[in-house]
Amino acid sequence: MEGDTYSILVIDDEESIRRLLLKELANERRNVMAAADAAAAMALIRNHWFDVVIMDLRLPDVHDLDLLIKIKEQVLHVEVVMITGHGDIDSAVEAMKLGACDFIRKPFNLDQLDLVVEKAHQRVLLARQNRILRHTSGLEQERVQFIGNSTAVAEIRFLINKVAPARIPVLITGDSGVGKDVVARLIHQRSACAANPMIIKNCASLQKELARSELFGHMKGSFTGATESREGLMTYAHDSTLFLDEIGELPLEVQASLLRVLETQNFRRVGEKEERTVNIRFLFATNRNLAEEVEHGRFNEAFFHRINAFTIRIPALRERKEDLPLLVNYFLTRLSPDNTPYRIVDSAMDCILRYAWPGNVRELRNVIERSIILAENNLITERCLPRELVSAAEEGQAALTLESVEKNHILKILEFYDGNRQKTAETLGVSRKTLYRKLAQYGRE
Ligand SMILES: Nc1ncnc2c1ncn2[C@@H]1O[C@H](COP(=O)(O)OP(=O)(O)OP(=O)(O)O)[C@@H](O)[C@H]1O
Ligand SMILES: [Mg+2]
Repeated sequence: MEGDTYSILVIDDEESIRRLLLKELANERRNVMAAADAAAAMALIRNHWFDVVIMDLRLPDVHDLDLLIKIKEQVLHVEVVMITGHGDIDSAVEAMKLGACDFIRKPFNLDQLDLVVEKAHQRVLLARQNRILRHTSGLEQERVQFIGNSTAVAEIRFLINKVAPARIPVLITGDSGVGKDVVARLIHQRSACAANPMIIKNCASLQKELARSELFGHMKGSFTGATESREGLMTYAHDSTLFLDEIGELPLEVQASLLRVLETQNFRRVGEKEERTVNIRFLFATNRNLAEEVEHGRFNEAFFHRINAFTIRIPALRERKEDLPLLVNYFLTRLSPDNTPYRIVDSAMDCILRYAWPGNVRELRNVIERSIILAENNLITERCLPRELVSAAEEGQAALTLESVEKNHILKILEFYDGNRQKTAETLGVSRKTLYRKLAQYGRE
């Protein structure tokens, strides 16, 4: 999946030329295949992804430039180099007009051949890159870290490192703001296609009627409004990672087609008969319970089982509060406007530790960002925290106090009756069973 390996198709009816080109062009960066005529070439094109095609101007089973036209129409981001003989100059010029990028003359100058092919490949990369850039923002390429020292986070880091180099699709689940995007980015950054930008699409933003076309592309005239052929995300994500966020929102009708891509790496543009092969690593994220969606008939069962084969579940922040101090300090450093260190006082950290964080790490990040603005002398105090957060934390504290008041009271009565549980229970007006349970909680058997 490396960004700089690429595939070449040689089309020539002369066997000696095919053999020569296969031998000269193939190296560890290039895969080369060959076809003797147009029919064989089209059969290969249907099942392989080619970046550069080198073809003879004259082929036995097709009229002069018809094959060139067909290839340019059907293969995305492909560059075609023509092989020409003596007296083919007019046709060569015609070929360039039809989209061929270059031509080489027989007999070959092998150094020149190499140069022409490399140049063609550079053009392919550029074209692909240009299109990809429209789909990703700079932020997505940013290096990320998955901070935390809880066992849950350690386990997630372990899974990320294990699964990243594999091709297997990964489903990332967890509530909003727990870090699903972070995990997806880390998997991509540690994968074999890290050199290429990850393509991210939020399925909630797909228009229902156009979802299929957005994913797979379409042919001109395939439906009302399809005034031009268009490429889909599958093409942009070739040789890279396609991260489909909020996969629970993907229209049911499209899920089966996507399952097919996962299983065969083949897809079809809307309105096109031929299938194309792509090389894509798929990542999915959701905050929905997909098993439940399947039960209600809102999610394709087979598709669910396929993407659920490797799942990374990120627990809510309140289930791993031991991550809070590290996360707080990480954001205090990262969000510091002038790179000066910020410190947080213990009482403010206590509030943070007691709070339930319904918005998870995203909420924490926002709170820290705000507290930095309010801080004086680079010190975060309770005053810098949102009032609701402090009072919610105090309520938690009050509940704790109530519990401890109860405990003190029970133990006092027990002491008064010299450890007699029967009398203690009677005085408290609770059953002996309840008293035993309470005492067990306090560690008194
Ligand atoms: N473990 C972590 N370490 C560092 N930053 C984190 C961590 N978890 C989350 N973040 C940060 O918290 C914010 C929210 O995380 P993210 O966008 O990954 O959440 P999400 O699970 O994708 O949420 P949603 O379901 O709303 O898309 C981001 O700014 C992200 O960088
Ligand atoms: Mg997200």
